Amino acid sequence: MSTKTMIIAKNLVKKYEEITAVDGISFVINRGECYGFLGPNGAGKTTTMKIINCMSPLTSGNVLVCERHVKTKPREIKALTGVVPQEENLDPDLTVFKNLLVYARYFEVPSNEAESRVEELINFLNLSEKIDSHINELSGGMKRRLLIARALINNPEILILDEPTTGLDPQVRHMIWQKLRQLKKNGITMLLTTHYMEEASQLCDRIAIMDKGKILIEGNPVTLVEEKIGKEVLELRINNAMENELLQKLNRFEFTHDRVGDTLYMFSRDGRELLQYLVSNDYPLVLHRPATLEDLFLKLTGRGLRE
Ligand SMILES: Nc1ncnc2c1ncn2[C@@H]1O[C@H](COP(=O)(O)OP(=O)(O)OP(=O)(O)O)[C@@H](O)[C@H]1O
Ligand SMILES: [Mg+2]
Repeated sequence: MSTKTMIIAKNLVKKYEEITAVDGISFVINRGECYGFLGPNGAGKTTTMKIINCMSPLTSGNVLVCERHVKTKPREIKALTGVVPQEENLDPDLTVFKNLLVYARYFEVPSNEAESRVEELINFLNLSEKIDSHINELSGGMKRRLLIARALINNPEILILDEPTTGLDPQVRHMIWQKLRQLKKNGITMLLTTHYMEEASQLCDRIAIMDKGKILIEGNPVTLVEEKIGKEVLELRINNAMENELLQKLNRFEFTHDRVGDTLYMFSRDGRELLQYLVSNDYPLVLHRPATLEDLFLKLTGRGLRE
């Protein structure tokens, strides 16, 4: 493994009795990269993160983190990684400051450095005003920022973020993106899971879309959307009869389409001519927009509810 490679997973399988949560996935994550795992609820994202961080044993396959095997070097791997878990697990009996200090001790940060490191991280996540507050006095956004600060206490090479902004308001979400971009600039490698496609587009160099324990597709988000969806999307609210009539008239245009409920989605490389035609013929166009990762996600994972 070259020093450029931070994580290698090969044919990774995780079974919980009769459930196969991760079903033979392989991927490579490079130094300094932000790699996103996307997928519907239950796809196996958190399970994959937990295996990488040695919190859950794999059933079969191989995972190497910084050239160390998850089965044999969990302590070393934990020292090299920081984790923001999906479920908040701060100590409610301790203040913001003490929550971080306990972690600093756990990671054996020398005591003369620990307090200044804790203060530095509290500042970095804009939590200075809350330094002596208890956890139950914090808002959801503050708790999440504190979890990020805690994950950085051991100066990790790899930061694992399991839904770092779920349920947060747009202000906090954008602030967290800024901080994560800053960390990335400093060279940290990031693994991110998210249900926000915009978050993945903003932060990730590459993404993997998972479903039912498998990786369906992997690559750069912009390139994938262009290749698999196109550049532009037109959305029309028309009934089936109108749709059939319209599609017959559009032979000369290049596009793909999909009907969902009352809406016809038309995906094309260049929607301008198509748009002109629809507008000049008074079709009830609701939206003309760029194609997004969400279009690709829904195309690959379908529109059925998972749980
Ligand atoms: N400790 C466990 N015991 C048994 N089954 C589990 C356990 N943890 C996860 N699972 C199952 O494994 C599958 C994958 O779960 P996982 O938490 O990895 O999904 P996820 O992609 O993170 O989903 P979400 O988006 O909802 O967080 C699910 O079917 C889940 O029910
Ligand atoms: Mg999860």
